[in-house]
Amino acid sequence: MLPTAPIPLTIGPLRLATNLLLAPIAGYCDLAFRLVARSCGGVGMASTDLLCPEGVLRENKRSLELAATCPEDSPLCMQLYGSDIDRLCEAAMWAEDRGAHVIDINMGCPVDKVTKKDGGSKLLCNPDQTLRMVEQIKSCLLRTPLTCKLRLGWDDSSIVAPYLARRLEDVGVSLITIHGRTTAMKFTGQARLDGIAQVVASVQRIPVIGNGDVRTPEDARHMIEYTRCAGIMIGRGALIRPWLFRDIWSHLTTGIIPAEPTIDEKCAMIRRHFHGLCQYRTEQIAVLEFRKRISWYARTMSPCRKLKDPMRQINSAADFETVVSAFQDWRKDYDEQLHAGRIAPITDDLIEAA
Ligand SMILES: Cc1cc2nc3c(=O)[nH]c(=O)nc-3n(C[C@H](O)[C@H](O)[C@H](O)COP(=O)(O)O)c2cc1C
Repeated sequence: MLPTAPIPLTIGPLRLATNLLLAPIAGYCDLAFRLVARSCGGVGMASTDLLCPEGVLRENKRSLELAATCPEDSPLCMQLYGSDIDRLCEAAMWAEDRGAHVIDINMGCPVDKVTKKDGGSKLLCNPDQTLRMVEQIKSCLLRTPLTCKLRLGWDDSSIVAPYLARRLEDVGVSLITIHGRTTAMKFTGQARLDGIAQVVASVQRIPVIGNGDVRTPEDARHMIEYTRCAGIMIGRGALIRPWLFRDIWSHLTTGIIPAEPTIDEKCAMIRRHFHGLCQYRTEQIAVLEFRKRISWYARTMSPCRKLKDPMRQINSAADFETVVSAFQDWRKDYDEQLHAGRIAPITDDLIEAA
């Protein structure tokens, strides 16, 4: 028997290929990375990082980069944050004109810069006002479904997500994503499955997506079975394993978890990501990004120091290629020697200590 029977997700008129969504992660889930995750398979929809309404309306360079997309980056959700109703309405219309398939309102960001201006998870603190805001944004959109991404509440004494989700459904929101933490938790502790389940139980007609700490296909299956959520959103787990969506979808539909990509396949992903950054941004940004991004990829590329240390020194695309090729050659030789029993496995701890 299959572990569970996933139904590809429907968001208003939009039917997705799977029920798995790539989360917005400011500074990480840009166009180049979204294309890497999509190329691995299993991504039903991806999202831009949170977009500032004033920035997109002024069409400043950074906002346009954050909102950049291309035909393969589809279907795409554009996420907006803030609390100024007029600006959010205009920005939602802007996103609709720029081809967003879905528009999401951020109701989960715990960062001071956002909450001090009453945006992000501060919207959870005044549900009535938030509902009025959402209703108005919805009335400005001609065809694009509107969704909301919530946390459970500001803190344990104000768990509003089940109530707010129900009311958001009533004003015509097409999907709710619930990150199973409060704002006070920031990113600490464990995402609460009971909290997600309460939100699922509170709405009747629209899908609820569970989010938080899904790192493996088993985590995803457990979240779906425990909470009855309609799908899963994944953030940090995808930075380590962009192929996680493929694995989860396979696990949910066939019970099989595919073999992990080989080192050569992972190097091909890294190259694709780097060259995407060069193409959509600049070589200089690709270099700076990869000096920090490599630590996420390297977690599954043992011995990680052999890749991370030289990558942190790169200054150009040529340096990048030298580092990746050298790692591939080193790993090939190492795997052969290991296979022949000539050497003992090197653990990352030993490498760190060396
Ligand atoms: C560095 C960072 C940036 C984030 N940026 C956003 C964002 O722009 N919009 C948003 O809705 N959530 C954002 N999140 C929250 C994630 O989308 C997600 O809800 C959270 O990380 C839990 O899921 P995960 O355990 O799968 O990562 C961010 C999280 C992190 C760690």
